[in-house]
Amino acid sequence: MDFLNNRRSIRRYKTDDISDELLNSLLLQAERTQTMGNMQLYSVVVTRSKEMKEALAPVHFNQPMVTGAPVVLTFCADFNRTVKWCSFRDANSGYDNLLSLMNAVSDTLLYTQTFSCLAEEAGLGLCYLGTTLYNAGQIIDLLKLPKLVLPVATLTVGYPDECPPMTDRLPLVALIHQEHYHDYDEQAINEFYQTKESLPENQEFVKVNQKQTLAQVFAEVRYNKADNEAISGVLLETLKKQGFLK
Ligand SMILES: Cc1cc2nc3c(=O)[nH]c(=O)nc-3n(C[C@H](O)[C@H](O)[C@H](O)COP(=O)(O)O)c2cc1C
Repeated sequence: MDFLNNRRSIRRYKTDDISDELLNSLLLQAERTQTMGNMQLYSVVVTRSKEMKEALAPVHFNQPMVTGAPVVLTFCADFNRTVKWCSFRDANSGYDNLLSLMNAVSDTLLYTQTFSCLAEEAGLGLCYLGTTLYNAGQIIDLLKLPKLVLPVATLTVGYPDECPPMTDRLPLVALIHQEHYHDYDEQAINEFYQTKESLPENQEFVKVNQKQTLAQVFAEVRYNKADNEAISGVLLETLKKQGFLK
């Protein structure tokens, strides 16, 4: 697992294709990941065609990785398959509720991240697309996802054609709590975020956004309240439409 010490998200890819053999072997190995009750509450849509990538691109805010990667993978929380299995076997299922949604989402992310580690270890580069949840409704239409299937994560995957600098992380002590949660006072926050705040690229980020602090860039510009609330409203409607919530 030493590759994790050097890993970074890759957003530019060589034109080389990923063989079906390699892709399928990674997707197969990833199936060994943990899953709720061994139900495997996920499916993956593989996009290779230019037409489908071009259709998906605007949904992902035209991030260039979508058309620039040989393969785009959309990982979906999926109770449809399980419910079909139940219905064909005379079993009364009840998976149209919040708990089932959360179980399917956690299964999906475990599978996605296991695939991600395996792919990066095999020399591929990839990038997650958070826009998947922003525009889940449009992805559902494009990929023809039935009820009880929700796109949760997208990865653009290919052979790396860049080696960007590694990004910072918080110190371990900032995340780990011994025996019980120790809440953060201002002094602890100052200590844990000091490195991040003093990085030249982050100071530039503050300047470009005409803000006073890096936290303001995150909370008021990049991931702000108005957008979060608007996108949440749309997502909630999508969850109802897909039959996960009533
Ligand atoms: C759920 C999730 C969504 C993400 N969405 C995007 C995205 O839409 N576009 C992008 O360029 N990177 C995206 N990323 C990548 C992060 O920006 C990246 O992982 C983070 O900045 C740390 O950098 P590193 O992966 O190079 O260490 C996403 C990562 C995750 C886990």
